[in-house]
Amino acid sequence: MNGSKRSKQLMTELIVENCTKCALHRTRNRIVNGVGPIPCRILFLGEGPGSGEDKSGIPFYYKQWHSSAGKELNQLLQQNRMNRDMVYIDNVVKCRPPGNRDPLPEEMRACFEYLRNTVELVDPTVIVTIGKVSTSVFLGDVNMDIVHGVPHAGLFQGKFRTVLPVYHPAYGLKNASMINKVSSDFRTVGRVFRNQTKPVSFDSKQKKYEIVETCSDLLNAEGFVESSIIAIDTETVGDKDLHKPWCLTFSCADATGYMVKADNYKIIELVNMKVQDPNIKTIMHNALFDLAVLENMGIFPVNVWDTMIAAYLLQTEPQGLKGLAYRHLGLKMSEYSEVVTPYTVEKTLNYLLDYLNFDYPWSKPDPYEVIVKGERKMKKPRSLHSKTMQAVKKHTNDGVYDLFKWWSKNVDKEEKFEVEAVFGELVESDLSEVEFGAALNYACQDADATYQLYYILKERLEQ
Ligand code: URA
Ligand code: SF4
Repeated sequence: MNGSKRSKQLMTELIVENCTKCALHRTRNRIVNGVGPIPCRILFLGEGPGSGEDKSGIPFYYKQWHSSAGKELNQLLQQNRMNRDMVYIDNVVKCRPPGNRDPLPEEMRACFEYLRNTVELVDPTVIVTIGKVSTSVFLGDVNMDIVHGVPHAGLFQGKFRTVLPVYHPAYGLKNASMINKVSSDFRTVGRVFRNQTKPVSFDSKQKKYEIVETCSDLLNAEGFVESSIIAIDTETVGDKDLHKPWCLTFSCADATGYMVKADNYKIIELVNMKVQDPNIKTIMHNALFDLAVLENMGIFPVNVWDTMIAAYLLQTEPQGLKGLAYRHLGLKMSEYSEVVTPYTVEKTLNYLLDYLNFDYPWSKPDPYEVIVKGERKMKKPRSLHSKTMQAVKKHTNDGVYDLFKWWSKNVDKEEKFEVEAVFGELVESDLSEVEFGAALNYACQDADATYQLYYILKERLEQ
């Protein structure tokens, strides 16, 4: 059998007819099957048919003179030296969701069996997921603003493939400010298709994150003596508005980070000497914040370069450090809340249990008068003690009820006054309360990422 005959035969194997596996079959006009050569190096996956597709039975249907997602897709392919005959095009669900709503999870699950077959037979090395819904099939519940245009290397259905999320072309139709991002995504599709871009691998590199306590630690920190580039980040503790310095972290070499505690004055002075040299470039992410903290520590860099401003100037990039590190370094950085919240949860529970178990004549709220059906009645408000008991029970039963939020937001200041007089104010945990290894890792990753991003963003800006 020659290639094209075999391809035709495989195509018939993938054609779905008369399917009633999910409720979408009731409202559809036609099942929209995938189109394209089989096998094919690249698969474009939309979320589901729209009205033109539902009438024609063709995915990303294109009709001259009509503006449509299909027309946008055709143009974007052509602009990047591709065309529809070279690519396989399909959708996560094959029947149109009424009113173009997102397909429901059960509809996606029902149709997934067909998608699995498609991936197996079409066997693409690159899967371009168009929009959030289709991206979620491979990458889970991710933020499109972070993952778009990043080719993700990974094991998908038993084979190494690249999943490349792109903004939906229809987005560019509705929202002019999105056009840049959509076209930049499709330029990446072109580069990946022509093997000009390597996918980002999210396997973490071995990192060297250490604390610097002595002068010899500092001299041994990789790059500190010789590098003219130093990335610096700071961490603060205590009341959120006070920004009491806790440590700085620095990085002068890839995949390294070093922590200096804010009260290690000798080392802080040596770091200051380095950044006071106008030949040394100090890299920070959001310098406006960190410069103020550094000033409190007695550090005054003279030559500052800000990666957040660089990202802003590039226009197509998110400005958060974690998003940038994900996109350009393949780093999945932990969020501050992931590191600290478990400690706040435990501290809050202990605080409230101490209060509940403390033998003390807490004052009771005064009863008040209400009129019910013309009669006066006295009502006794519930005491804080009993409300707290109920909240703690709720938390221990479901394990997720947020006691800290309840205590700090829902309970009146006056009601808490007595408790705070005895136990002090309950405040959120910070890095100083976290197990040291986890705090070190969290704090160093920011300096490490900032250092590496400097080179990438600088090159992009110069292009
Ligand atoms: N949008 C999609 O997600 N798929 C199509 O086929 C058409 C528009
Ligand atoms: Fe069948 Fe998929 Fe259509 Fe649902 S969407 S009826 S599973 S073809």
